[in-house]
Amino acid sequence: MDKMWSGRFSAGASTLLEEFNGSIMFDRELYREDIEGSIAHATMLEKQGILTSLELADIVKGLSQVKQEIESNIFEWKIGDEDIHMAVEKRLTAIIGEAGKKLHTARSRNDQVAVDFRRFVLRKNREIIDALKLLMSEILNIAANHTDTLMPGMTHLQHAQPINFAFHLSAYLAMFKRDIERFNSSYERNNISPLGCAALAGTPHNIDRGVSANLLGFESASINCLDTVSDRDFALEILFNISTMMMHISRLSEELVMWSSYEFRFIELSDEYSTGSSIMPQKKNPDVPELLRGKTGRVYGSLMGLLTVMKALPLAYNKDTQEDKEGVFDAVKTAQISLEILKEALKTMTIKPQNMLSACKVGHLSATDLADYLVQKCSIPFREAHFITGKAVAKSEELKIDLSDIELKYLQEIDGRIGEDVIKYLSIKNSMNARTSEGGTSTQRTLEQLKYFKNFLEQ
Ligand code: ARG
Repeated sequence: MDKMWSGRFSAGASTLLEEFNGSIMFDRELYREDIEGSIAHATMLEKQGILTSLELADIVKGLSQVKQEIESNIFEWKIGDEDIHMAVEKRLTAIIGEAGKKLHTARSRNDQVAVDFRRFVLRKNREIIDALKLLMSEILNIAANHTDTLMPGMTHLQHAQPINFAFHLSAYLAMFKRDIERFNSSYERNNISPLGCAALAGTPHNIDRGVSANLLGFESASINCLDTVSDRDFALEILFNISTMMMHISRLSEELVMWSSYEFRFIELSDEYSTGSSIMPQKKNPDVPELLRGKTGRVYGSLMGLLTVMKALPLAYNKDTQEDKEGVFDAVKTAQISLEILKEALKTMTIKPQNMLSACKVGHLSATDLADYLVQKCSIPFREAHFITGKAVAKSEELKIDLSDIELKYLQEIDGRIGEDVIKYLSIKNSMNARTSEGGTSTQRTLEQLKYFKNFLEQ
């Protein structure tokens, strides 16, 4: 019996139990956090006179060796060691002897796993923020060249009003900025140290939680130990943040899929980020945005999974909580690769302004402008203006032309109050540029928005 907790047992654990109970096959992802956490804990113990400086030196040296063994792939992972915490401690003691046995003073695996997992999640919050910023600057680069590129703005996936392509991209910049703010606020809220909480109630040893918190870069020690060893809000937050971010990514992905279809032809994805068909030689498929759309579902699954694990758990630590990690590891990996591949796919795609413009020539995109003209220039109440414009749209349909191409005489037949100056209002470009209200699509307003996001990335 070589278990660290074997004292009160007379028979060894069954292999079946070891398989079922162990988390080492996945929580070894936390080895770095675990070793750094142990070094911080030992440093604090020495400062408080609980370990001698020799013992501390042995521990630090031994832990560095363990880290090195893991990183050079010679560490022997054994399911019997149960989890990363016991595997590291056991190997440490095998290397340095007696001092290794003192490391767990004033500590429990409960605060240990809480500190490891929390620091992993905090680190990932930061890494995802950095990747989101790179994605945003790529979108900004593209947008800078398209503040004049007309495209149909849609509602209900029907042509609505003309906008410019940069304005459309700016909508995604707004979403990704909020995503960054969410990761950031989660980081700040959860930046508190569980170390020293021990099993659930603190410890009688004369520890200083502030010291280990400080060494690990936490803002402070957590306020209540019972809460800290059982709380997994920080993990739920990153899952929610990733889910929301992936939802945004999936909306953009859906548009990329549509835009690269023959029906739209607004963009063409590069060969490097497209795939072929095994049977249809002519095909070029948008697998990247489709997979991004699909992976969103998998991340939502992890969020729902952990919410369900946490539901109705009594205080404090329960083994159910061990189920918190795999979903988070998976979601974080998905988020990171998704951000990177989306950025590359966008960077290498070809934009087709001519096709976007042709699409603006169907669907009477400037109809609202005619109504607005009737209100502004002819003092007609909007409801009536809407009706008159409807007549003009019907006439255009009858003539098989777009409203932006209708001749003045037809408009004047419908309503004598319409003047020559109306023609200018009907052009697609004027229509786009007429929307000068704050947050609107006019090139001027779009430039303002791009500047705002650029400033955001720079601070
Ligand atoms: N492997 C465990 C987990 O991931 C570590 C904590 C175990 N604590 C305990 N009291 N059994 O949650």
